[in-house]
Amino acid sequence: METVALCGGIKELSASIHGQQIPASYAFPPELRDSGVSNVVQATVPTIDLQLLRSHSDEERSEAIRSLGRACEEWGFFHLIKHGVSESLRQRMMAAGRQFFELPPPEKLKYTGKHVLDPIRYGTSFNSSVDQVLCWRDYLKVITHPVLNFPESPPELRSAVEEYSRLLREIAGELLGGISESLGLESPYIEREVQWDKGFQTVVINFYPRCPQPELALGIPPHSDHGLLTILAQSGVDGLQVKHDGHWVPVTPLPGSFLVNVGDHLEILTNGRYKSIEHRAMVNSDKERMSIAAAHGPCLDTVVSPAEQLLNQGGNPLQYGKMTYREYFEVQQSNQLRGKACLNIVKV
Ligand code: OGA
Ligand code: NI
Repeated sequence: METVALCGGIKELSASIHGQQIPASYAFPPELRDSGVSNVVQATVPTIDLQLLRSHSDEERSEAIRSLGRACEEWGFFHLIKHGVSESLRQRMMAAGRQFFELPPPEKLKYTGKHVLDPIRYGTSFNSSVDQVLCWRDYLKVITHPVLNFPESPPELRSAVEEYSRLLREIAGELLGGISESLGLESPYIEREVQWDKGFQTVVINFYPRCPQPELALGIPPHSDHGLLTILAQSGVDGLQVKHDGHWVPVTPLPGSFLVNVGDHLEILTNGRYKSIEHRAMVNSDKERMSIAAAHGPCLDTVVSPAEQLLNQGGNPLQYGKMTYREYFEVQQSNQLRGKACLNIVKV
């Protein structure tokens, strides 16, 4: 593990593996790989059309809000189409992110974070100092709101991250407005409760090199995301699987779409009505893969509590206690990823 940290990430390590075997420290035992479910089935993740949610026709907008509510309740994951973010911006992000990982290790290691709230963090695995099994993944995590950060190099990252994070935050805000309404809460209920103007946003660029033993390794083990909504772009190589009805469902992105998922704090805020969903990233032996996850959370100092209006409806007692988002984030990011275990720390 030390040598990985010293010479760079899995990108450097995978390039130095001769032969077909991965180091034993990257082989996941079945219980960590599958999180209780081993079968993979094909099913269709719902699709939400953002243009309909933006519609001036009340009828179209109401229908879009109902679809959004159903997608959050039944899946916790949906494709987002007609979102207005250009393909060229997505490609600029992917290309600049790729260039970052191409930098010589010392350039990247400057950003080896000491604390999970450092503005820019480069690393490997999830949390290589505590991970029991290492993930076949390198990452660059950049905090982009309330203060925008970006690495100096490559220079292309700056404008791409600035524009991308701004547009995705707008979209996340629109979705949260629609989600408030889908719950019968007046928009902007959620934005107000979470102090959205100071909302915490991170852009995480994930890099998964080719892996000679993809049946043993994982890019990211099963987990749910902290925060309210994650908006994910994939590079065109499949790998994401989501847990649905007790099966793993591979998600092939619709061209040009984003994949949006409900995070732990939306589960808390809705008292469990919209649940965060476990997902994992598989790796493969043919092609490297990248993804960009933009995570949108409350203001770090906010204590998210279940909406009163959603309590006791149909006998739904309070399920989650009080904790600042900052405290939750620190616990989630400093431990190993293990399914939805982190949420237990706020369950009453
Ligand atoms: C994440 C994540 C999935 C992927 O970054 O939290 O789940 O497909 N990524 O890279
Ligand atoms: Ni995730």
